[in-house]
Amino acid sequence: MDDLSLPGRRQFGRLAAAAAALAGLGACSPSPQASPPASASSSGSPASASPAAPSPSPSTSATSATATAAPSATASGTLAPAVDSPARQLKRQFPLTDPSSPWVLVNKHHRLSPVTYQPSDLMVPALAGATADTLLRKVTAAAAASMFADAARAGVAMTLLSGFRSYATQASTYNSWLRIHGSVAGADTASARPGFSEHQTGLALDIGDGGACELQPCFAASPAAVWAAANGHRYGFIVRYLLGHDRITGYYAESWHLRYVGSELATDMVHRRIPTLEEYFGLPPAPSYL
Ligand code: DAL
Ligand code: ZN
Repeated sequence: MDDLSLPGRRQFGRLAAAAAALAGLGACSPSPQASPPASASSSGSPASASPAAPSPSPSTSATSATATAAPSATASGTLAPAVDSPARQLKRQFPLTDPSSPWVLVNKHHRLSPVTYQPSDLMVPALAGATADTLLRKVTAAAAASMFADAARAGVAMTLLSGFRSYATQASTYNSWLRIHGSVAGADTASARPGFSEHQTGLALDIGDGGACELQPCFAASPAAVWAAANGHRYGFIVRYLLGHDRITGYYAESWHLRYVGSELATDMVHRRIPTLEEYFGLPPAPSYL
């Protein structure tokens, strides 16, 4: 059972469908560059976004679609896995705050630092559905290529819908969700604010299958999502936002959003049946912005 109410989930489904139909956006919306809604293109981003100059002022109390998308939480300077975290037992350790680290923790309590971080090794991956605008980091692209190829060999269609999103693109995306939901609280369940999205690391991707359920709750039952959930760890991917864990991750379930963390960590999470990075690292839930 999801932590959020069923009416809430139904409303989310309707809103997500409306988003896909009206704005070309999905629940974990593809890059506006890849699927440009008029309101979310880089040239048409809402006036409320301020991607180049993030404000430290909180915005969670705003309730209208004109609310600012500026970050309100701070980056963590000394974040590390808890002493008793399983992560401490892995052979190789990686930092949780370095945005180029495969273990970087990005959630509503942990903003990327620098907030406008952009990976230096972005590339167009050799994946079905990839375009010049769906970039991934080199390590993510290689892992995804192996995963997509094995999925195809198993008869499972898998396409790339979204990869890297810059701070500015995420600002446009988030503001589109603000307009769709009409409230910050609503937008915050579906989209990360700029500076708080895993997509900005180049380590996250959204998968699809060309079907009607793409970026919708019903995608969870698709062969692509089922196969990715069962096999993604072998390539270093986790399904980051699982159903029933939104009070920890801060987001509704997104069966399409895969995060690269490396196969050792991803496999250990599966073996230990630990569903979220927050729990795996022994860190507090992050249901909302600070
Ligand atoms: N939809 C996910 C949470 C993002 O915007 O990064
Ligand atoms: Zn995503």
